[in-house]
Amino acid sequence: MEATVEKCRCDQNTELEKVIAQHEGEKDDLGQIKPGGNGVVDASSDNELIKQQLESIIDEYRGKPSGLIQVLTKAQNLIGYLPAWVQTRVAKGLGVSLPEVYGVVTFYSYFSLIPKGRHKVAICSGTACYVKGSKTILKTLRHVLGIKTGQTTPDSRFNLEVVRCIGACGLAPAMIVDGKDVYGRLEPEQIPGILEQYA
Ligand code: FES
Repeated sequence: MEATVEKCRCDQNTELEKVIAQHEGEKDDLGQIKPGGNGVVDASSDNELIKQQLESIIDEYRGKPSGLIQVLTKAQNLIGYLPAWVQTRVAKGLGVSLPEVYGVVTFYSYFSLIPKGRHKVAICSGTACYVKGSKTILKTLRHVLGIKTGQTTPDSRFNLEVVRCIGACGLAPAMIVDGKDVYGRLEPEQIPGILEQYA
């Protein structure tokens, strides 16, 4: 029987990072639509303005399956996440199957199927942090926030993620909030106080 070798995701993530960097900040440039208080817009399929803007994103790559990641990145920048109706429109517009779109969305951790919270809490699972007890910190975060990894709190205040090395190995175990506030040499009892700083 032939062995199945899973391809390493590192290269693909690098590609995705390039696309994300390319389109970073485009949410503001897209203009009229402003995110709501939780950082996402009203993403219901009844929102005509959203639909129009999504269609103009799709138009750039209409009929071109190769533009899938670019379109998904822009759509997520616009809406904040990628609900089913958005995936359906993208699939139709680019001429790819819905399972293929869903496959890409769930493959890359950058893409989200659910609305994100106002604050992104990311605990590092890199080697140094793991050795220094990031697992216990993650357990505490889950307990304090009352959610699992990848979920958003019901009040849309936080979402919890596990990431690879954040470049603060000397401070292990470390976590980063909103992509900029790094907290290191963490002890479980510090977690509630840190989270309190974020409204
Ligand atoms: S391993 Fe956690 S910051 Fe590098």
